[in-house]
Amino acid sequence: MSTDAHPAMRSEHLFARAQRVIPGGVNSPVRAFRAVGGTPRFIARAEGAYLWDADGRRYIDYIGSWGPMILGHGHPAVLEAVTSAARDGLSFGAPTEREVELAEEIIKLVPGLEQVRLVSSGTEAAMSAIRLARGATGRSRFIKFEGCYHGHADALLVKAGSGLATFGNPTSAGVPPEVVQHTLVLEYNNVAALDEAFALHGPEIACAIVEPIAGNMNFVRASVPFMQRLRELCSKHGALLVFDEVMTGFRVALGGAQSLYAGLIPGFAPDMSVFGKVIGGGMPLAAFGGKRAVMELLAPLGPVYQAGTLSGNPVATACGLATLREIQRPGFFDALAARTRALVAGLQGAARDAGVPMCGDSEGGMFGFFFADALPQDYASVLATDKERFNRFFHGMLGGGVYLAPALYEAGFVSAAHSAQDIAATVQAAASALR
Ligand SMILES: Cc1ncc(COP(=O)(O)O)c(C=O)c1O
Repeated sequence: MSTDAHPAMRSEHLFARAQRVIPGGVNSPVRAFRAVGGTPRFIARAEGAYLWDADGRRYIDYIGSWGPMILGHGHPAVLEAVTSAARDGLSFGAPTEREVELAEEIIKLVPGLEQVRLVSSGTEAAMSAIRLARGATGRSRFIKFEGCYHGHADALLVKAGSGLATFGNPTSAGVPPEVVQHTLVLEYNNVAALDEAFALHGPEIACAIVEPIAGNMNFVRASVPFMQRLRELCSKHGALLVFDEVMTGFRVALGGAQSLYAGLIPGFAPDMSVFGKVIGGGMPLAAFGGKRAVMELLAPLGPVYQAGTLSGNPVATACGLATLREIQRPGFFDALAARTRALVAGLQGAARDAGVPMCGDSEGGMFGFFFADALPQDYASVLATDKERFNRFFHGMLGGGVYLAPALYEAGFVSAAHSAQDIAATVQAAASALR
């Protein structure tokens, strides 16, 4: 039974059926609404800024398939590219011109990249980037930050150990402690912890992987001093700085979050980058890239093995290319960023009117809001925000036809298809939900 105020009969029926044949009824855990309670909506179709559930209800969509749908759903140029590519063949397992075009397009848009390898998921891309960094440096250890998510590869399912001299503990059953013994988990935005970790382990660290704007603990920016210090320490100790831009890439700016930090820190660039979501435009596609000297250590040229049956799939590359072409239209990101800022300002205004503390932030088409007085800077402060209030708000918004991520740990996404009227309707729904 649904525990929310707006039961959805067909979704409930489908969820019951799903739970018999799919663990938890879903193929990725956060879809199950466990954090907020209630029944997940089964989605029947989508168009522009909207989703329709199996009960025929329409929602303004702020998940956008967890990031890829930057143009909104069913953009005509994307649909045309996908259907035309599908007619030419679904998969060949052999190289195609379109893979080269997509690689060229990504490299053109992200300064500092010389080569990319295409894969099928962000998990695969991040896992492969770390393997390559280890292969390139001959070192085993790497740094990740608490609250950042880089997919579900074993060595990344880890939480902080008891101190800096100790390495992480698995966060999932099935991950042996030995597999995470080389993963060092540090607090996000904590410069002192960086200094200490590199002082203790510097010569053993292959890479540090970071979400430059963390979208897996809602929306938390890496501070400029933190990013600057991380860059300095990686360079000083011969570790590679890996930017996980699966979420932020082609979403917060055309050149990704790294282009924003390059504008704030003279000479700034990561050594490697990981992409996903927008570069596939809604199809399974991701990539990792860096300088030629490092990338050419990959098989078939070098000793670092990496492969994939569906890597660079012709339909997915067509979808990604069409999406990347659309987001390069003049003024695209200015308009998207303005609309996203208007949304966050509207939500905060509604909260202020209701006397509820809320703060928010956005960059390009990615946003976050917290029921708290100040923006959190790390995972612990995200955990300290008002979860009960968020859960009530989520269900109020869902009932009002607004589909937000069903957990307070997730960033939100606005697409180019969201109109000023959609934003106004969302703010109105928020005013009712906060009453
Ligand atoms: C920053 C980041 N890295 C990696 C991943 C994993 O990507 P995928 O779900 O495509 O495996 C995600 C997924 O949300 C992500 O947000």
